[in-house]
Amino acid sequence: MDYERFFSEDVAAFLPSPTRELFKKVDISKIYSLAGGFPSPDTFPLEGMREMVDAVLDKYGAKAMQYGGTQGVPELVALLSSGSGEAPENLQMTTSSQQGIDVCARVLLDPGDSVLVDTPSYLGALQSFKDYRARIVPFGEGFSFPEDAGRVKFAYVIPDFGNPSGKTMSMAERQALVELAREKDFLIIEDSPYRALRYEGEQIPTIRSMAPERTVQLCSFSKIFAPGFRLGWMAGPPEIIHQVYVCKQALDLCPPVFDQYLAAEFMGSGALDRNLAASKDYYRRNRDLLLDALSRHMPSGVSWTRPEGGFFSFLTLPGDCDTLALYDTAIKKGIAYVPGSFFYPDGGGRNTMRLSFSYLAPGKFDPAVRLLASLLF
Ligand SMILES: Cc1ncc(COP(=O)(O)O)c(C=O)c1O
Repeated sequence: MDYERFFSEDVAAFLPSPTRELFKKVDISKIYSLAGGFPSPDTFPLEGMREMVDAVLDKYGAKAMQYGGTQGVPELVALLSSGSGEAPENLQMTTSSQQGIDVCARVLLDPGDSVLVDTPSYLGALQSFKDYRARIVPFGEGFSFPEDAGRVKFAYVIPDFGNPSGKTMSMAERQALVELAREKDFLIIEDSPYRALRYEGEQIPTIRSMAPERTVQLCSFSKIFAPGFRLGWMAGPPEIIHQVYVCKQALDLCPPVFDQYLAAEFMGSGALDRNLAASKDYYRRNRDLLLDALSRHMPSGVSWTRPEGGFFSFLTLPGDCDTLALYDTAIKKGIAYVPGSFFYPDGGGRNTMRLSFSYLAPGKFDPAVRLLASLLF
């Protein structure tokens, strides 16, 4: 049967993730993978988990398995409020930050509206904006306003250790963006899933703190607890948060209740801070192993970003190289990466690739990068 006629008009705009399609081709466990952006399971708080589950059951019993309020369980909202200085009415729990992105798009975008993005940008966000039939418009040089931007509802940025760029927006860039948003009257979606994972240097103020009246910040437990819990939160102007709250009533009624109590236990007991310190040491070492291996093995003409945190470094090859064309050979030889063109809405970046240092075992960075370098030119 042909089902086409039953689908909504939106479906034509849906874009299956090219990375998931690529990963289907290969058993990642059998090769060196610098591709996936998964957190390392070595950073999950597996040891203390039984005690945390017991503590949740002791404290909340059946309530932890019941439906909860749409905003989130009050114990967790209160902890996040006191930790961030945000008023509780500025906060909404989400079923992780991917939902935060999607629900912002759903609440703010009409078909044909424009979203400004800093390229390369996070694929999951580009997918979501396309689903709502938005126009995705890259910023001009230095976060300037592109000509012919159309009706811009918001800019989407990842200011701290971007996925895939690994870059951090400077204070001057954040200020320029805030000024532009005020001048041209658009909102800013600040996606911050990696912000807590800084391995060196000073934190730069959040855009949310610089322009609270027009910024929604998306945060996630995925990289500081475990992604399987699918838990995140957002902070924004209460009027926007209220619309998100209403939208989420239809979307999933309430965020996962047991997971929220676990997260509250994890935060409130001090385990999150201890685990975060250990995770930062773990990822810092991996980052250094990747950067050292790149310096050792990459031929001249190749450049890469030096991330101060997060999971990724972004590699640029000479202009005539095509990392998508190289991908099948790379897989056959035993190394995976993500072709950079996936992160450009306009199909640019063919000579770039994303390398993740979060997941590979420490002893494998040197041989992985040596193999990758040997395939380049
Ligand atoms: C920039 C960015 N935003 C959002 C997400 C979604 O993460 P989650 O939904 O697990 O919080 C990711 C995942 O890798 C990401 O890199």
